[in-house]
Amino acid sequence: MNGAEESLAAVTLPETIGTHPGNRKVKRDPLWREPRAIQATDLAAAYDGPHVLVNVNLDLPAGELIAILGPNGGGKSTFFRLAMGLKRPLVGDIKLFGRSVGTRIRQNQVAYVPQHEQVDWDYPICVWDVVLGGRYGLMGSEGTWRRFLPPRWAGCQHATAAYEALKTVDMLSHRQRPIGAMSGGQKKRVFLARALAQDAALLLLDEPLVGVDQQSQDLIFHVLGQLRDEGRSVILITHDLGSAKRHADRVVLINQSVIASGPPEEVLTDEWIARTYLRHWTSPEG
Ligand SMILES: Nc1ncnc2c1ncn2[C@@H]1O[C@H](COP(=O)(O)OP(=O)(O)OP(=O)(O)O)[C@@H](O)[C@H]1O
Ligand SMILES: [Mg+2]
Repeated sequence: MNGAEESLAAVTLPETIGTHPGNRKVKRDPLWREPRAIQATDLAAAYDGPHVLVNVNLDLPAGELIAILGPNGGGKSTFFRLAMGLKRPLVGDIKLFGRSVGTRIRQNQVAYVPQHEQVDWDYPICVWDVVLGGRYGLMGSEGTWRRFLPPRWAGCQHATAAYEALKTVDMLSHRQRPIGAMSGGQKKRVFLARALAQDAALLLLDEPLVGVDQQSQDLIFHVLGQLRDEGRSVILITHDLGSAKRHADRVVLINQSVIASGPPEEVLTDEWIARTYLRHWTSPEG
């Protein structure tokens, strides 16, 4: 038996998969009562060359399912990198649930699925271990008293979370297969499961639907809607206007700065879309 099978064998599986365990947090933790998931003020960012984001001011309410859209190179992924503390803004400030990015990341309250996973697909790691990796931050922050529990018992909640996350994205039957053997869409579902297992208040998903078939997309939106209903904040980047219109509570259009933000029916109009996608890229230096 490998490690994943052992931890799975140790799990006393619930008879029915009920509501997500995070529900308890909604009542308990003051973080979940914060009105804003993200507050960005006068943000600007650049890599080696000209600015890729300028004057980004954005208030994103907590507890919503939000879609970010915009042209290639418009700065959407860069915005997520700023929100994850992977990149520092040139100027401006970004807060998550009213506190600094560093604080919320240390609290393990942000789950992030990057656009391109930095994974060596030949590395012999199975799907189960990838998803269990979403729990590592939580394992580190556990109280020392847990060390006195029998090892099987101590790991049980993590294995249950990984199990439920894989079941949610309908990938449980693949859990013992190497991640490198998964198709593009299956990999997306595994990394979504990893984010679900983290049990975070905020999920940042960069193009989670690319390569995913229509049926699985519907499943994923159903799951994201459930997370929102539990009080979590779910923000995804997508190029699919149709699904943003159908599923999102709010849409944000970004091209170098925020062009529009609001309910889909107000923002996904021909005029705003033209302004976003036909806008000429300009550098603040001219
Ligand atoms: N690591 C990097 N080094 C240098 N420039 C970068 C880097 N990452 C992104 N850029 C540049 O920053 C700009 C914004 O890129 P970003 O990835 O944020 O766009 P995006 O809106 O996510 O685009 P897409 O829809 O294609 O994913 C682009 O012009 C891109 O070339
Ligand atoms: Mg991107």
